[in-house]
Amino acid sequence: MAKPVVLITGANGEIGRALLKRLHDDGRYRCVTVDLTPLPEKYRPYCLETYAGNIMDKYLLDQVAAHHEIEVVFHLAALLSTRGERDPELAHQVNVEGTLHLLRMATNQSGRLGRAVRFVFPSSIAVYGLPNVEEKARVGRIKEEQWNLPITMYGCNKLYCEQLGRYFTQHYRQLGALATAARLDFRSLRFPGLISAETVPTGGTSDFGPEMLHAAAQGQPYQCFVGPDAKIPFMAMPDAVESMIALLEADRARLRSTVYNVGAFSVSAREIEARVKRAFPKAQITYVPDAVRAKIVDSWPEDVDDARAREDWGWKAAYSWERAFDEYLVPSIQKRYSEPPPPAK
Ligand code: SER
Repeated sequence: MAKPVVLITGANGEIGRALLKRLHDDGRYRCVTVDLTPLPEKYRPYCLETYAGNIMDKYLLDQVAAHHEIEVVFHLAALLSTRGERDPELAHQVNVEGTLHLLRMATNQSGRLGRAVRFVFPSSIAVYGLPNVEEKARVGRIKEEQWNLPITMYGCNKLYCEQLGRYFTQHYRQLGALATAARLDFRSLRFPGLISAETVPTGGTSDFGPEMLHAAAQGQPYQCFVGPDAKIPFMAMPDAVESMIALLEADRARLRSTVYNVGAFSVSAREIEARVKRAFPKAQITYVPDAVRAKIVDSWPEDVDDARAREDWGWKAAYSWERAFDEYLVPSIQKRYSEPPPPAK
C-alpha cells in the first residue's frame, strides 16, 4: 500500500521543520508542504512536493488537494501572539480564516477518499487568560476547561479554531446530511512555550526562553522582555513533535475530547537564566520588562494539567527540564553554533 500523504502547512516554521525531519526519518508517511516562504534546500528531499504560497489562497489549497490524496493534515501555519497584537486583523485572517479553508479542504478530501482525514491542530496555552498573578499561583496546573478567557488575538483565534474543528468533526453540514464517514477527524493539543536547539521562534511571547538560550550560545547579551519571576510551562521541541504524532496515531475510540493539554516542565525566567549560565558562564542577561508582553505571560498559566492526554492516548514527555537542557538543548546548540555557516549563494 502507498504510504499516506501528509500535508503540513507552515512547514518552514519552527515546529514544521522539526516535524518534517521526524516524519522523513520515520519513513511511514510522504509529506507535502505549504508555506509562504520556500523551504531551504536541506528540507526539500524530505518532501514529496513543496508549495510556496498562502493558506488564504483557496485555489492553491484546492490544487494541492487535487494533486494528492491527503490523509493527514498538520495545520501549523499561524501568526503568534506578539505578532498578532501588532496586527490583530491580519492574525484573525491567517489564524481563523486560514484554518477554515484548511478544514473545508480536508472535509472535501474526506468525502473524496471515503474516510475521515485526520487533522492535527496545535493550539496553545495562550487560550488561557488568568486575571492576575495571585490567581495564576493559586490555580497552578490548569485544566482544559479553566480560565478560557484569552487576552490576545492569537489566544482567541486558537480557542475558536479548537471549537471550529470540533464542529467540523461532529456537526458540519448537518442539514445537508453529510455522511459521517466523510467528516474529518480533528485533534488538537495545547502546547506550552516550545524550545528548540535548531531554531529561534519569531513573533511569540514565550520567546524569552529560547531567545535567552540562543543569545548565550552565540555569546550575545540578552535583554529579557519579562521579569525574572515570569513563569510558564515549556517543552523541548522533540517532545512537541512526538506528542503530535502520538495524538495523530491515537485510537479515535479512546479520545474523549478534541482538545488536550500537553505538559513537560514549568520554569521561571530566573530559572532559565541560572541554567543557561551554568552552560554558558559568560552569558549576559538583563531584565527590561515590556509592559504588554509581560502582562501576556502573566495571563498564561504557571503549568498545565495534562492528565487527560495521559489517560486517553498515553502522553508522557520524555524531556524533563534537566534532561532537556543536558541531553538535548546544550549539546545540540553548541554543535549548531560551532559549525561554519552555509556558503552564501
Ligand atoms: N509560543 C506561542 C507564543 O508565544 C504561544 O503558544 O505566541
